[in-house]
Amino acid sequence: MGGKKDVNPLPPTQETIREGQVAFSHYCISCHGLDGQNTGVPFADQVSPPVPMLASPEVQGYTDGQLRSVIANGIFPSGMPASKELLSDEEIWSIVTYIRHLPPKGSLVDPGVYSDEEVDRLKQKK
Ligand code: HEC
Repeated sequence: MGGKKDVNPLPPTQETIREGQVAFSHYCISCHGLDGQNTGVPFADQVSPPVPMLASPEVQGYTDGQLRSVIANGIFPSGMPASKELLSDEEIWSIVTYIRHLPPKGSLVDPGVYSDEEVDRLKQKK
């Protein structure tokens, strides 16, 4: 993982966190949940490797630059996609800031992207 020493140029203000949350809610919640902790994501622990809790000590142990690099480049060949074609540098850094300030697990609503039928179907696949 590259980018270890890259420094987040954005100030960690409420505004940056909010921007990051908005970008996160567009591109990341279908797998990570609105709270970054898989809330409401029916397959999160059924894919291999599973979708990690972004509030976990492992993920929080990365530097900001490493998080940026993971988000920009994705992780091949797992399910974590690269975002650098979709997001500006500023959006990615604001997401890094959001990941540092995640709300408590389960405190936000489900992403609402999966219907009950889809959840049933995904569970049956198991
Ligand atoms: C299609 C599902 C999917 C989407 C969309 C997705 N991720 Fe992930 N993400 C994953 C999976 C699966 C992993 C675990 C990958 C692994 O461990 O190899 C992961 C891992 C991560 C990690 C931890 C990396 C590590 O090395 O431990 C971070 C941070 C992360 N994602 C952030 C994001 C952000 C931010 C977005 C939106 C820009 C996003 N993800 C979009 C599925 C997704």
